[in-house]
Amino acid sequence: MPSVDFDATDEQLYAELPEPLTLPPSELLSHYEPNILAPLVRCSKLPFRHLVSLYETQITHTPMILAEEFSRAQIARISDFSTSSCERGLYWMNPSLNSNSNKKVKQVIRLNHPEDDRKNDTNDLITYYKGNYQNRIPSTPIKPNKNSELIRGNLIAQFASPNSKSLIDACELISPFVDGIDLNCGCPQRWAYNEGIGCALLRKPELVREMIRSVRDRMGWGWSVSIKIRIDPDQKQTETLIRNALQAGISYLSIHGRTRHQPSTDPVNLEGIKFAVETVNGQVPCTGNGDIWTYEDVINMREKTGVTGVMAARGLLANPALFSNYSSTPSHVVSQFISLSTSYGLIFPLFHRHLAYMLENNFTKNEKVWFNCLSSSSAAIDWLENRGLDWRSGKGGMWDGRRSRGVLTI
Ligand SMILES: Cc1cc2nc3c(=O)[nH]c(=O)nc-3n(C[C@H](O)[C@H](O)[C@H](O)COP(=O)(O)O)c2cc1C
Repeated sequence: MPSVDFDATDEQLYAELPEPLTLPPSELLSHYEPNILAPLVRCSKLPFRHLVSLYETQITHTPMILAEEFSRAQIARISDFSTSSCERGLYWMNPSLNSNSNKKVKQVIRLNHPEDDRKNDTNDLITYYKGNYQNRIPSTPIKPNKNSELIRGNLIAQFASPNSKSLIDACELISPFVDGIDLNCGCPQRWAYNEGIGCALLRKPELVREMIRSVRDRMGWGWSVSIKIRIDPDQKQTETLIRNALQAGISYLSIHGRTRHQPSTDPVNLEGIKFAVETVNGQVPCTGNGDIWTYEDVINMREKTGVTGVMAARGLLANPALFSNYSSTPSHVVSQFISLSTSYGLIFPLFHRHLAYMLENNFTKNEKVWFNCLSSSSAAIDWLENRGLDWRSGKGGMWDGRRSRGVLTI
């Protein structure tokens, strides 16, 4: 790899970047091997999505949003979704070995970043932080090899809905701000099941087909619509669900390798994911989810199941730099998190919980007790500063994230 002039400013280093490709998620998944932040209720909100996007997480999901509330009430839109013009990252990516290199990557459908095509009447629908999205830069200014392309990441909104009507209204409202929507078919909680959402859809393939088809009809065939499923102990059920979803025209499929009744302490069933991938039979790309804690798990998931996208949930909560091949949360991630949370705003209980997840492995038993007793964001920051965290001294907010490990070390 060519060397970098360490004395150069960012402006000088990044002056020659090519125009990035903005691809729909299905194209990203078909031709590359993206890493994905799973939808996480309460946790995959804007500051955390932005944080992981600095560390080789190319596709991020919002938390599950109730489509009915979102389409009906402004208050729900404000509380459930916020985004920023610069939350999507920029990445050097190599075409995957399995991708058909004769098939030129199509830059179709969502050609624009939302900021390129702002409609004024959507401005007050949600909380939208405007920044200069062109300030986002990849982790290194140097093209890693001749096949590498510069690619912009994707943001997907996940909805839960028991019917088509709420789902399509919600899709339409959120569409200017995201690159696609995902239908939750995996939430195992009893209240959700009773409402006819999440796991309740796993055994309602016709309803899922109708919902996807309705989104397609309203939003057009270019709009990305995916589903996130759990595997079923009865493989025939998984097969029927997938066939219906394919028939309705899903853009890609996300598979969590646990059944509805399995707790997350059970190991992920890679064979179950592989079965779903084989059922899809290459008609759309797939992402695999479950027990991604290390970079080796990422590689293993791709090798054992045939998915191109790898989705992590608890692993990223514990170590947001997981996809950049860090084995535990580096201190600059904590610094970035504090900067992003204070700039965007994040309520204390969430701020506190994220820090506890990230630092869990570094705390002694006593420190854990102390940390859990803190009752404000400033108390948590003071506490960390007293233990040597120097989060204010980074060379600019994004400094360490750009130079993620393995790409550039200083
Ligand atoms: C705190 C938390 C919140 C979650 N929220 C959602 C959600 O909103 N939608 C969803 O489809 N799955 C949700 N899940 C499930 C995860 O997306 C993922 O499928 C599951 O945790 C398995 O991945 P893992 O083994 O990497 O944690 C949640 C999981 C956790 C731990």
